[in-house]
Amino acid sequence: MYFIGCDLGSTTGKVVLLESLGDAVDSCRIVSWALEPSGFSPEETADLAINRACEQAGISRDQVAGFCCTGYGREHVSAIPYNVSEISCHGKSASFLLPSARTIIDVGGQDVKVIALGKTGKVVDFAMNDKCAAGTGKFFEAMARTLRCTVEELGEMSLQSVAPVSISSTCSVFAESEVISHINKGVDRCEIAGGIHESIARRLMAMVNRVGLTEDVVLTGGCAKNKGLRVALEKMIKVELTEIPCDPQINGALGAALYARDAYDGEK
Ligand SMILES: Nc1ncnc2c1ncn2[C@@H]1O[C@H](COP(=O)(O)OP(=O)(O)OP(=O)(O)O)[C@@H](O)[C@H]1O
Ligand SMILES: [Mg+2]
Repeated sequence: MYFIGCDLGSTTGKVVLLESLGDAVDSCRIVSWALEPSGFSPEETADLAINRACEQAGISRDQVAGFCCTGYGREHVSAIPYNVSEISCHGKSASFLLPSARTIIDVGGQDVKVIALGKTGKVVDFAMNDKCAAGTGKFFEAMARTLRCTVEELGEMSLQSVAPVSISSTCSVFAESEVISHINKGVDRCEIAGGIHESIARRLMAMVNRVGLTEDVVLTGGCAKNKGLRVALEKMIKVELTEIPCDPQINGALGAALYARDAYDGEK
């Protein structure tokens, strides 16, 4: 039996196609997934990604028994009325993939979320930064533009840094001025990249401190693919991050797919 979860984020739509082979939750497996840049219409983004995920799996949409949406656009897909909050979906998925997970740090395009999970995997607390770009993918993107590189290159450069510069502004507009001033002084780009990652890691640590840090700690969201961020964050929080066994960007969509399965089973 197939289920689909859609995470319609501010930057990227993610869809996970899940197959459930029995009653136990551990009989579920990810069959395919698709990422689609968020357009103007969450409905269209969801459609494109759902079709791609089904195509990859060689199944038709009619074979899917249940759907669930999460993310910014979750209430704007008329064909999928069932939706669940991102916090719940991230928690559900992380505890499914890694039952020992107790802290989730999700760094997306526009938000940062820190979620504390209890021993049974239930969400017990969370903090969210959704008012400003500081510490999010948008911040990395703005800094990469200033340094004339991609976010992937920015992350790689930060790993070469030995004496990162100090970037004191959390506001991306002021931070950009600081970066330009370092460029004009002829500072090595790797040291600037190192400073950018250190400043974001500091910002994330402040949020982590609001909910408390309990191991195992997982980093999710598109920015979790940035090795530079993982390394800078580990140094800052002095804890090793545990990898989840799938693309960290699809964690929310997987949670939505698991909710779709529960709803089908009448456990909503
Ligand atoms: N390989 C990569 N390396 C670095 N950053 C990446 C990579 N792939 C994606 N990103 C970043 O991930 C971000 C998007 O992540 P994600 O899909 O989790 O966000 P979202 O869910 O749309 O946003 P939000 O949760 O804030 O609504 C973008 O800012 C993008 O630059
Ligand atoms: Mg997101």
